[in-house]
Amino acid sequence: MKALVLAGGRGTRLRPITHTSAKQLVPVANKPVLFYGLEAIGAAGIREVGIVVGDPREMLQPDHRTGQLVTVMVNTQAEIRAAVGDGSAFGLEVTFIEQEAALGLAHAVKIAEPYMAGEPFVMYLGDNLIKDGISPFVREFAAEKPDAQILLAHVKTPSEFGVAELEGDRVVRLEEKPKQPHSDLALVGVYLFNATIFDAVRAIRPSRRGELEITDAIQHLISSGNRVRSHVITGWWKDTGKVEDMLEGNRMMLGSLETDIRGVVDQASAVEGRVSIGPGTVVERSRLRGPLIIGANARIIDSYVGPFTAIADEVELSHSEIEHSIVLERSKIHDVPRRIESSLIGKDVVVCASDARPRTHRLTLGDSSRVELS
Ligand code: G1P
Repeated sequence: MKALVLAGGRGTRLRPITHTSAKQLVPVANKPVLFYGLEAIGAAGIREVGIVVGDPREMLQPDHRTGQLVTVMVNTQAEIRAAVGDGSAFGLEVTFIEQEAALGLAHAVKIAEPYMAGEPFVMYLGDNLIKDGISPFVREFAAEKPDAQILLAHVKTPSEFGVAELEGDRVVRLEEKPKQPHSDLALVGVYLFNATIFDAVRAIRPSRRGELEITDAIQHLISSGNRVRSHVITGWWKDTGKVEDMLEGNRMMLGSLETDIRGVVDQASAVEGRVSIGPGTVVERSRLRGPLIIGANARIIDSYVGPFTAIADEVELSHSEIEHSIVLERSKIHDVPRRIESSLIGKDVVVCASDARPRTHRLTLGDSSRVELS
């Protein structure tokens, strides 16, 4: 059995972070979302993994020095290749498969056919987080040998997902993002297939959004009389497409954090609850309230870092308060007068107070940024 991990896509709902970075590499609890998936695949006993990566694209960005707009290549593919390497860090053998454009999940399956070479496989969407992993589903599929097995979960907003209609435990209909969903059972981004899926992806046509939908391909399997099993999962699952989902994922993963303090916390600081602090990090005159994780070589000075917060490496925080947030590498937060909450702050961002008069907000924000001031 092999695995196919999908790590292409534009990540439009996570802009502006995804203007420059792959959505699958946004960290929750200081670990890229994609790595949780790779670990789950390894834990299920699978070694050979094909990762589908997207095309480099051009975009306009302000030049650091001149402020003028210049065309830059955004290469999330290179970033994913660099982060995952050959997969050996996860005990996996990874092969990268290039998708020339975001033509849909079923298109990704189509181009992976030579790699799969007739073997059954688990397809894992690289932005999905499943707290309890996938081992039981892989075992069940291997034992029962259906043509396909899908995972379903009850959700509050089914129209944002592929939706399944069941009769007993038989799947009778699947629909991609229906306006009027017939159930609240969403397709989780983990699917198990044997080689019949390749006939199905060849048979379907692009959807209204111009993509070859995996949901349509599985519906085609059902309509052609193939055996499609479903399994309604009860554990925690999230498609981390939006900021709120990233924050929820962060909350969930920090829930099982263990205290591990490798940096230096001075006597004037207080550490409450489960807190992990990376090497080289300095904490002075601050209050840390877990569960929270701080990476390596960060500086937390005269500040409060509250529960469910993940602070990446080399972040600087001084005279500021933050909780229920994710802050990426090298960002600086200084003298911010109110507590920052429920925020996702990208890399190399500066948030600071200014003494300049008149008192104004001065903002340099990338496209699709969102700022809430009160
Ligand atoms: C995709 C699938 C959808 C599925 C979802 C799970 O949607 O098309 O059927 O429910 O993943 O994460 P997307 O997130 O690509 O819009």
